[in-house]
Amino acid sequence: MAEVGLKGVTKTYPGDVLAVSDLTLRVEHGQFAVLLGPSGCGKSTTLRLIAGLEEPDRGEILIGGEVVNHLPPQKRDLAMVFQSYALYPHMSVAQNMGFGLKMRGVPAAESRDRVRATARLLGLEELLERYPNQLSGGQKQRVALGRAIVRKPAVFLLDEPLSNLDAQLRTETRVELLKLQRQLNGTFILVTHDQVEAMMLADVIAVMKDGTLQQTGTPEAIYAKPANLFVAGFVGSPPMNLVPGDLVREDGACSFRGEFSLRLPQLDRDHRIPEPNSPIVLGFRPEAARVSSSGDTRLQVELVENRGSQKFLYGSADGGQRLSIAADPGSSVRSGETITVTIAPENLLFFDAATGTRIGPETV
Ligand SMILES: Nc1ncnc2c1ncn2[C@@H]1O[C@H](COP(=O)(O)OP(=O)(O)OP(=O)(O)O)[C@@H](O)[C@H]1O
Ligand SMILES: [Mg+2]
Repeated sequence: MAEVGLKGVTKTYPGDVLAVSDLTLRVEHGQFAVLLGPSGCGKSTTLRLIAGLEEPDRGEILIGGEVVNHLPPQKRDLAMVFQSYALYPHMSVAQNMGFGLKMRGVPAAESRDRVRATARLLGLEELLERYPNQLSGGQKQRVALGRAIVRKPAVFLLDEPLSNLDAQLRTETRVELLKLQRQLNGTFILVTHDQVEAMMLADVIAVMKDGTLQQTGTPEAIYAKPANLFVAGFVGSPPMNLVPGDLVREDGACSFRGEFSLRLPQLDRDHRIPEPNSPIVLGFRPEAARVSSSGDTRLQVELVENRGSQKFLYGSADGGQRLSIAADPGSSVRSGETITVTIAPENLLFFDAATGTRIGPETV
């Protein structure tokens, strides 16, 4: 079994650059994990630490339950696919794919068979005699993947492998990657800053910021119950509406007072808020609100984005707060109109304004 674990792993680069800080993470055997975060947050470093290309200052790296800190990369039973493909230009596709096997002393006949079988899997059979400069970006990408697969490692580490592909090819390759992972039953850890990619591929997403893990969870949990304001704002397009304000108690009921006000009688019932009269940030997804003539939040619509299957209305509430609201694809609302919207109380999230942590009994 090839589960991958990091326990309290810290990595500093020369010049006191803290790239990864006290990272603890566990990826089960056969899981597709995605490390997600903005540029510079330490994703590649984490992958390189698992691969053995970097050494941690502190902490343990485990593969299959064994600490592998002392093992060189080639002894870790894993393969890494880099963003840049890193194909050898003077070698054919077949030679590129077979190179790792040759280095490991796999007999030529077996190597040839494995390269053929992998090429078949990836639709590369016709291209085996070509050289990298005779391939498209997507084909090079598949050769880089093939070079990893042919070795049959237990763990695949993929560093932004799809970022050089155009939008359509990227979508197709994501589907292929998923199929491949199920077929190989390998443990996949993929790095991306693209939240759509993470949501589509991952069994489990680990969100990172400034070298620290923010939250680990299923795509559904990350989306519906973000652990803090950073995760809430990073995942989702358009992003979650985040409105600073206060929770106040008046007439025996809770209300939110910010750039706009909302009565929240159900909060008392659910005991969701430990401390009323505290500064918070109210969060709700665009789809938690709907256009309704009886709505109690007015919105001056400034822009209508038509995504075909859905529309998004962007505008400002009475106090100036900017909001984005999902609307039916058939909605006739136009920019310049003033509408009213209803925000579903059960889909509201609350964050501590000081720490950014989500408040609520279901916080993990
Ligand atoms: N060899 C290095 N020497 C010094 N600092 C480095 C080195 N490699 C990375 N860093 C720094 O460590 C931090 C994390 O880098 P890393 O490459 O892991 O980020 P990343 O999340 O992969 O970003 P990106 O999405 O841009 O690839 C960054 O601040 C980066 O500048
Ligand atoms: Mg990177």
